[in-house]
Amino acid sequence: MCFQEKGLFYLRYHKMEETTKAPGKNYCIGILTSGGDAPGMNAAIRAVTRAAIYKGFCVKAIYRGYKGLLSDEIVEFKTQNVSNIIQQGGTILKTARCKEFQTPEGRKIAHDTLVRENIDALVVIGGDGTLTGARIFATEYNFPIVGLPGTIDNDLFGTDSTIGYDTALNTIMEAVDKIRDTATSHERLFFIEVMGRDAGFLALNGAIASGAEAAIIPEYNTEVDQLEELIKNGFRKSKNSSIVLVAESPTTGGAMQLAERVKNEYPQYDVRVSILGHLQRGGSPTAHDRILASRMGAAAIDALIEGQRNVMIGIQNDQIVYVPFSKAIKNDKPIDRELLNTLRTLSI
Ligand code: F6P
Repeated sequence: MCFQEKGLFYLRYHKMEETTKAPGKNYCIGILTSGGDAPGMNAAIRAVTRAAIYKGFCVKAIYRGYKGLLSDEIVEFKTQNVSNIIQQGGTILKTARCKEFQTPEGRKIAHDTLVRENIDALVVIGGDGTLTGARIFATEYNFPIVGLPGTIDNDLFGTDSTIGYDTALNTIMEAVDKIRDTATSHERLFFIEVMGRDAGFLALNGAIASGAEAAIIPEYNTEVDQLEELIKNGFRKSKNSSIVLVAESPTTGGAMQLAERVKNEYPQYDVRVSILGHLQRGGSPTAHDRILASRMGAAAIDALIEGQRNVMIGIQNDQIVYVPFSKAIKNDKPIDRELLNTLRTLSI
């Protein structure tokens, strides 16, 4: 094994492990989606399926994520199986969070299924939990797996964007635009909670895109009391309404908790809360997410042909890169602090 440069991370295995088959005739690739769904997953399924068939491989679709590996919900896919799905949100393969796969016994059943189904490699599409499961399984069974970052949270290290993030951001922007109409009419202060599973990417960029007054994010919460800072700076200023985006997280406390605090400490404000919830995960993917998913899906097949394993396909400066699972899931993707300054500057 040796490392080479291609963008930031590029992991190349010169020699396939003895126990695994090199991609060639009769090579079979399993594909699954797992964890929270994200718009663009279908575009990724389509890309993986078609790129694999184009190279002469067989594709087997595994339904309901790792759960489907345990219960053998597997169907061979032809190119027609992925027709007319690029524009659809959600995932045609269904998804699930599978507790059993977290146990050695569960993973043994999954491995037995892969052997029985003659599947030689896996492409898994999902977020942090999915890639963590993939990493453990790949190490335990010396099984080739390539991951695609499919999550609206954008919280995977080593990729500028994850599949679904751009669509969710646009959904947030449209929702906030609508809330602004009523906020302005009633001269109210709105706390709008967005998803992100402890990461502030959706909240911060959603705030910039919708012209909100502030974003309260977990990455910054440990350093300052963001609400205090907001109030001290006089967050209404010359405006007759205010919108604050809050990232869901125990660290921020969430929108409800912040609203309660303002109601108690500053009763002069007419405060309302809106939790956008799962609508952020739905909808037809944007062109950005469709193109990203298509490029990444095709790259996953190239990666397997090159003998890659245990890597996530990422994108950095518009270049496809391979990110080792161990780095992608470390949960320390940095948020660009300059964006906070931009938000502050533009919200005067
Ligand atoms: O990871 C994606 C995500 O949508 C997070 O933003 C959110 O915290 C979580 O999934 C919600 O999960 P569930 O659909 O299981 O409630």
